Amino acid sequence: MISNKIQSGINGNIEIPGDKSISHRSIIIPSISSGISEINNILMSDDVMHTLKAFKSLGVEIVQENNKIFVHGKGLNSLLKSKTNIYLGNSGTSARLLTGLLASQSFNSIIEGDKSLSSRPMKRIMEPLKLMGAEFKNTSGKLPLKIIGKKLKNSRITIDVPSAQIKSGVLLAALNTEGVSTIIEKNITRDHTENMLKSFGANIDIKKNGDETYISIDGNKKLTSKKIDVPSDLSSSAFFIVAALINKGSKIKIENINLNPTRDGILRALKKMGAKINIKNKRNLCGEYVADFDVEYTELNGCELDSKIAKLMIDEYPILSIAAAFANGPSLFRGLGELRFKESNRLELIKLNLISCGCDCEVVNDDLLIKPSKKYNPINNNIRTDFDHRIAMSFAVMGSKIGNLLIKESDSINTSFPNFINIFNKAGGNLL
Ligand code: S3P
Repeated sequence: MISNKIQSGINGNIEIPGDKSISHRSIIIPSISSGISEINNILMSDDVMHTLKAFKSLGVEIVQENNKIFVHGKGLNSLLKSKTNIYLGNSGTSARLLTGLLASQSFNSIIEGDKSLSSRPMKRIMEPLKLMGAEFKNTSGKLPLKIIGKKLKNSRITIDVPSAQIKSGVLLAALNTEGVSTIIEKNITRDHTENMLKSFGANIDIKKNGDETYISIDGNKKLTSKKIDVPSDLSSSAFFIVAALINKGSKIKIENINLNPTRDGILRALKKMGAKINIKNKRNLCGEYVADFDVEYTELNGCELDSKIAKLMIDEYPILSIAAAFANGPSLFRGLGELRFKESNRLELIKLNLISCGCDCEVVNDDLLIKPSKKYNPINNNIRTDFDHRIAMSFAVMGSKIGNLLIKESDSINTSFPNFINIFNKAGGNLL
């Protein structure tokens, strides 16, 4: 894909698809509940479709109608052994959550993924599950992973890695045990699993103590099906928000965006940079907050962010870095070590690609320092993405400002935002 300079900004009402994290959970949790759940506005992207196919292969009847699905759940112990290995493509969320769920089933499973997913760490979910008695046939700590299904014991598990995927995998494993399990989370991460489990009738109790969260959940509690309206994805909307902020003449409206306080770091960061983002009509939708945003072009200031906020916006650093590249003054983002374990080594690719674009950028330990240029003259127009959807979309936004960037392997965008190119071009973008 080539990203060209745009003429009169990004404008109009932008329709953002359903939230990726909530969409995965909208398949997983209804599949182990009793009754039929209707899910509206589910994200029909490659990642989510891998979760959907996985549950079909585990014997769950799922009926699709455009971006609505009906999941026919038959209860906690109703899953069946898949006849084939379960292929999860690029999806880290599917891999970590399914590992937890499948570890506590009465049958064995093998999960596998594409090249990128097969290079990502799985030990971080295997280790806490082993404390509950889980068993794996695997020496590499990577996919493919053979999961030996067995009865796990309720436990008290401390999670050191700041990861919602690990927490969620352990919660799903704990559902199928006798008694109460307590998960101690050292850092706040997105809490969509807790919210949805609660609304499906799980006995889940959450207590905070400073930065730590204690999540207690009753095993063997029947979950009951529910209708879910999936909010639109804040992470996907961030590409449009930043495109509007950096391109003169822009004014956009986006509606029904998920505003979960464990995920809203990008808004706090952009506001700190002076962004004109008006958040209105905050309301509750199926246990999650949503709101509508008006965003317009702003001359942004650089900013310094500490590592605490990184957990609340871990997926947004690629696009935040583009905003920082056009700010008046340098930005320093601290504590980004986890970016090395995403769909690509994002910390490295942000740095390499910004340097290619002519931006002065440095990684010191886990911190990213961006010193914007007054005028960008790309040293190299090729953007390396390593098949990472968020790197591809972020540099598409960079191209809208500086022009003529060749974004390699841009099909990866289908992972989270299949219609991105059309929607971006309709709003004033110039992606070929
Ligand atoms: C996700 C959690 C995050 C995030 C990913 C989605 C989830 O990963 O980066 O895109 O849906 O739970 P980690 O849990 O590894 O931080």
